[in-house]
Amino acid sequence: MTAHVTVRPETASDAPSVREVVLAAFPDVDEADLVDALRADEEAWIDGLSWVAVDAAGHLVGHSLLTRCHIGTASALCLAPCSVRPDRQREGVGTAVTAAALKAARRAGESLVVVLGHPDYYPRFGFERASTHGIRLSIEVPDESLMVLRLDPGARIPPGLVRYPRAFGI
Ligand SMILES: CC(C)(COP(=O)(O)OP(=O)(O)OC[C@H]1O[C@@H](n2cnc3c(N)ncnc32)[C@H](O)[C@@H]1OP(=O)(O)O)[C@@H](O)C(=O)NCCC(=O)NCCS
Repeated sequence: MTAHVTVRPETASDAPSVREVVLAAFPDVDEADLVDALRADEEAWIDGLSWVAVDAAGHLVGHSLLTRCHIGTASALCLAPCSVRPDRQREGVGTAVTAAALKAARRAGESLVVVLGHPDYYPRFGFERASTHGIRLSIEVPDESLMVLRLDPGARIPPGLVRYPRAFGI
């Protein structure tokens, strides 16, 4: 199904609507608080890499966020969270807004993205299992749920420990 949404970078007035969408998409408040904490973290937040999907009536229905992390000492991005309002899920909104965020990151010269998420969902964007590249986390997670994407086909994927922004608590 086609999404019928417009995707664009978050603007200053979007924060409350983003919070509403994230609150609606997840069972508890943690992810919404995470987005707000990341927005307040100058080391993590990158203007232009928080993307929203807006429906024809102008309502925000989806959100996808990339923030600064590191793999060892190498600069990378982490993708999280991705949120779509429950009544608009499985229509392509999440794919559209996440693909747009990744494209913006590529244009901005970023080369690597990590995600901790569902192994059936993220490979559609090109993510592959991170452990095959020697990338690991400081916490135990199912091996297949940590994935990495090379935005620049020429980029070397460095092995190492992923250091998420402090707000993730990882
Ligand atoms: C995950 C999420 C962002 C996907 O957005 P969406 O707009 O529903 O997804 P799309 O319509 O673009 O893509 C649909 C595809 O994603 C798959 N999918 C959707 N949610 C999924 C999930 N939680 N796990 C695995 N696959 C999922 C569907 O099976 C479908 O697959 P198909 O294309 O092979 O049929 C959205 O469902 C959501 O907000 N879920 C609740 C919050 C969440 O779990 N976020 C992800 C963790 S950060």
